[in-house]
Amino acid sequence: MAMRLKDSLSGVLTAEEQQALIGSYDIVGDIAIIIIPETLKACERLIANAILAGNRRIKVVAKRAGVYGGEFRTIPLSILAGENRKETEVREFGIRLRLNPERVYFSVRSGNERRRIASLVTPGESVLVLFSGVAPYPLAISRFSLAKVIVGIEKNPEAHGYALQNLQLNKKLRNIILYLGDAGAIIPILSECFDRVVMPLPTMAETFLADALRILKPGGYLHFYDLQRPDCFADSFAKITAACSTNNRQVEGFSIIKCGHCGPRTYRICIDARIQ
Ligand SMILES: C[S@@+](CC[C@H](N)C(=O)[O-])C[C@H]1O[C@@H](n2cnc3c(N)ncnc32)[C@H](O)[C@@H]1O
Repeated sequence: MAMRLKDSLSGVLTAEEQQALIGSYDIVGDIAIIIIPETLKACERLIANAILAGNRRIKVVAKRAGVYGGEFRTIPLSILAGENRKETEVREFGIRLRLNPERVYFSVRSGNERRRIASLVTPGESVLVLFSGVAPYPLAISRFSLAKVIVGIEKNPEAHGYALQNLQLNKKLRNIILYLGDAGAIIPILSECFDRVVMPLPTMAETFLADALRILKPGGYLHFYDLQRPDCFADSFAKITAACSTNNRQVEGFSIIKCGHCGPRTYRICIDARIQ
């Protein structure tokens, strides 16, 4: 059983340091990823070693050494304790995902959302996942639905490389086709339209709405992700209606799902929309 970080450091850190300590952290496979406030820099190895000692599952402790950025939404990490590696394997609902969290985007917090999308897929559907990363959505949909085919598109070559490895690691899931490239360039070369298009690229997915609508069958479903304040959810929906009106499509029905937090008063939302 893992020990609470704050408890394990009580009596070691001063009261002020305890106050500044961020007691929660993400665990990606066997790597703990922590945030060290500037005022605790001098104690960072002490904190990292306390995490290693308190949780036998963790083999590496790394700190965020920057913020998520760039086209591939990656974040620099710096190892503080444990083994000297950044590659790991995550298990999500029995699915194996190999990845390096510094080189590719992956959020352990989105597992339930991926499972939710998979649960909406009906037998025989063809599903397109834009921005598919190391393939967690395609694999979850393949595992938990009877989709006919799932196509993924990812631009980061390293994420695509891991996605191909992950297909090998989950050999029973065979109805997935993955493309490396820009979604805007790959969509026009796909020969069939899809029953469902998933767009997990919050804030930037808007740029690809016209492409997504062109490849979505009439009566198909769109899952559009955005980051939004609760009083502005309508602005996210307006992005879909604007794209529909310029592409001669209509929204038949929709719902807005809160699927995570990102900063104070900002949600990661998914708009599930049926488009005619
Ligand atoms: C927020 S991440 C989501 C990754 C994955 N779906 C997941 O849930 O872990 C967005 C992904 O889109 C990729 N990406 C960014 N721009 C792209 C583009 N124009 N075409 C295809 N993929 C792109 C990034 O490299 C990144 O892997």
